[in-house]
Amino acid sequence: MEKKNIDWSNLGFGYIATEQRFVSNYKNGAWEEGGLTTDSMVTISECAGVLQYAQTIFEGLKAYTTEDGRIVTFRPDLNAERMEQSARRLEMPVFPKERFIEAVRQVVKANAAYVPPYGTGATLYIRPYMFGSNPVIGVKPADEYQFRVFVTPVGPYFKGGVKPLTIRVSDFDRAAPHGTGHIKAGLNYAMSLHAIVTAHEDGYDENMYLDAATRTYVEETGGANFLFVTRDNKVVTPKSSSILPSITRRSLVYVAKEYLGLEVEEREIPVSELGEFAECGLCGTAAVISPVGKIVDHGREICLPSGMEHMGPVTQKLYDTLTGIQMGRLKAPEGWIYQIG
Ligand code: PLP
Ligand code: COI
Repeated sequence: MEKKNIDWSNLGFGYIATEQRFVSNYKNGAWEEGGLTTDSMVTISECAGVLQYAQTIFEGLKAYTTEDGRIVTFRPDLNAERMEQSARRLEMPVFPKERFIEAVRQVVKANAAYVPPYGTGATLYIRPYMFGSNPVIGVKPADEYQFRVFVTPVGPYFKGGVKPLTIRVSDFDRAAPHGTGHIKAGLNYAMSLHAIVTAHEDGYDENMYLDAATRTYVEETGGANFLFVTRDNKVVTPKSSSILPSITRRSLVYVAKEYLGLEVEEREIPVSELGEFAECGLCGTAAVISPVGKIVDHGREICLPSGMEHMGPVTQKLYDTLTGIQMGRLKAPEGWIYQIG
């Protein structure tokens, strides 16, 4: 199979239409079998539930070319499970796990020419999503839904690749206690748009959101969880019921303990503790691990000792080990790598 003529090493995080995507519709209480299509357009009612009341959820995972030339994805079962949690919270039908994984497999396989070659730094981003498609005008769940999966080749989420980021403590909240912060609903991202646009205008790369109830504990950013490293090399990550349970973070916690022999604490992290850390990183599928060099809390500048030029040493080890597992350079824990081709 011949790869597309794309400048893989200079890709940003953007959308490039690929050849095939998967579509299945839900009607009369059941999912139709669904299948691949070349049609990238969606046609729905002007009154569709997703357009009126934002009834939409999504997932994000990646396909990689391994060192020995295979195409693999990373823990797609966990994306399927998280999408099930998201669907239940927004009163949407569950797209069954086995069918979710099979749809991902079909779309990646059909677009194999778009899976970036090994060593280019690019990957194939996979976006499964689901939305209410029939007319809804009183506030209630839709009766009909569409599940889709498309893929697009991507480079680094943050411009500049692995250059440390400057972030600020946001004055906006991302998620309320007992709200929807722990699921991957489009509405969580819509309400973060003003915060990210104003953060960029003010010269910051991202927002650090705090817990909405007390505004004293670190939660996450708009698209990634936090990992911190203490001065004595402990990995610390926020525990909260209103952050997204990142698959990357959960994997890194395992990697830190089992591959690197590090101590890991999952606990509440007060903002007042930020000055104590040696390293900070943002972790997620899109972010991988993006190092943070500086955190600004209303005029208080917290400069991480790892500096503005490089990732800290522990963050680097975590990054190398995780990407080593994903690209087939290191042995993966049982069940983490799902081979496609
Ligand atoms: N937090 C938020 C708000 C996200 O959007 C994402 C991205 O999916 C993550 C965290 C990271 O999750 P994962 O590692 O499963 O991609
Ligand atoms: C992901 O990492 O998959 C996400 O969905 C985050 C988003 C900011 C692109």
